[in-house]
Amino acid sequence: MKPSTPEPAVPRVVLGVTGGIAAYKAVELTRRLREAGFHVAPILTPDATRFVGPVTFSALASEPARVSLYDDTTTPIPHTYLGQTADLIVVAPATAHFIARYAMGLADDLLTATLLATRAPVLLCPAMHTEMWEQPSVQENLATLRRRGVLVMEPESGVLAGGDEGAGRLPEPAAIASLVEHILQKNDEGILSGRRVVISAGGTREPIDPVRVLSNRSSGRQGHALAEVAARLGATVQLVTTASLSLALDVRGDIEVLKVETAAEMSEAMLSLATLADVVIMAAAVADFGVLASTSKMKKQDGVPSLVLVPTLDILTTLVEKRRDGQIIVGFAAESDHVLENGLSKIRTKQCDLLVVNDVSKEGVGFDHATNEVFLIDRDEDIETISLRSKEAVSYEILSRVAALLTQGAQ
Ligand code: CTP
Repeated sequence: MKPSTPEPAVPRVVLGVTGGIAAYKAVELTRRLREAGFHVAPILTPDATRFVGPVTFSALASEPARVSLYDDTTTPIPHTYLGQTADLIVVAPATAHFIARYAMGLADDLLTATLLATRAPVLLCPAMHTEMWEQPSVQENLATLRRRGVLVMEPESGVLAGGDEGAGRLPEPAAIASLVEHILQKNDEGILSGRRVVISAGGTREPIDPVRVLSNRSSGRQGHALAEVAARLGATVQLVTTASLSLALDVRGDIEVLKVETAAEMSEAMLSLATLADVVIMAAAVADFGVLASTSKMKKQDGVPSLVLVPTLDILTTLVEKRRDGQIIVGFAAESDHVLENGLSKIRTKQCDLLVVNDVSKEGVGFDHATNEVFLIDRDEDIETISLRSKEAVSYEILSRVAALLTQGAQ
C-alpha cells in the first residue's frame, strides 16, 4: 500500500477584533477567510463584545471565539497556543486604543498577549474617526509598529459612523481577505530573495524661494507600500522618498530610507543606487520642471512674479539608458484622459519593462487614496487590469510580475 500524501496544511489565521463600530464587518471577514480556505480562530477584546457577540464569530469561524486569557476549557495557555500556531494574525478593526496598547507591548488581554507570543506576520486594519486617525499619537504608534515589521492596511476615506466623512473607514472585508490571501500565498514567499530593489516614492518639491515650493499631490503611499511588500517578499529594499517620515509612512526597520526633496536630489540618489540594483521602480511623481529659485523670499509688494521653469532630468529614461544587464525597470504613469493610449505611448518612449498606469480622475484611484486601480502594460504591449484594491494588494500584483520578469530574463 502506498503511503498517503499528507494533506497540505491549512493556513491558520488568528482574527483579532477590537471594540469599534466596524467590528460588524469582521463577521463578514470571518466568512470570507473561511471561504478562502483558511482556518480562522477569532479573538475578541472585551470591548469588541459590546458591538458583536462571540457566538456570531463562533458559528462562522473554525474554532470558538475567545475573549479571555482565563478559564479556557480547551487549553490552559490560550495566548501561546494561538500565537505559536498562527500563520498570520489580522486585527480588524484595530482601534486607536488597541494600537497604543500593542505599540507599548502591553499584554493585558488575550489579543495583546497572543501578539506578544507569536512570530507570525501581523496585519493591522485600523478604523476610527478621522480626528482620531490623524492624531500624532496614533500615527506615531503606527509608525513604531511599522518599523517593527507590522503590516498596516490604510483605512479608506468615506462616510463614517455618525454620518461624517473622512479617512478612517475600515476597508471592505473582500479587500482585507484578498490582502490576507496575498500574504499567505506560499508560492509568493521569497520570490524576491537575494534581489536588490530600489524604489522612488512621493512627489518632488521644487523650491521657488526659501519659503515656497512647487509640488504635486502624490502622497508616496503606493511607493511605500511597494517597498514594504518587496521586503516581505525577501528583497533588500532601498526607498528614495519625499514623504514625511514622522508619520505613519514610516517603514520596516530593514528598509533603507533616503529622504530627498527635489527632482535633482532624487535623480542623484536613484542613479547611484540603481548601479547595484536588480529592480528599479520609479513610483515617484517627479516634477518635469524645476524653478529658477530666488535666493531671498519674494515679496508681495514687488508684484506678481514670473517663474522661470527649467526642465529636470527624466530619471526613468536615464535609468533605462544606463540599465545593467538583466535589470528590470518599472515606470508609473498617472493619467487623467486617454489613459491607455497615453500609457502605451509612454512605454514606447520610456522603454521600461513594465508601466503601471492609473487613471487619477477616477474615485478611489491614485493620489492620496488608500486604494488604487491600475493597468499593467508590458513591453509586448499586453495590458492587464488590476481592479480597485488596497495599495498593498496592488503592490503584490506588481511585484509578482517583476519576479516573473526577473526569472524570464535569467533563462
Ligand atoms: N519620471 C522621471 N523623471 C521625470 C519625470 C517623470 O523619472 N523628470 C518618471 C516617473 O517617476 C514615472 C514616469 O517617468 O515613473 C512617468 O511619469 P509621468 O509624469 O507620467 O510622465 P512624463 O514623462 O513626465 O510625461 P507627462 O507628465 O507629460 O505625462
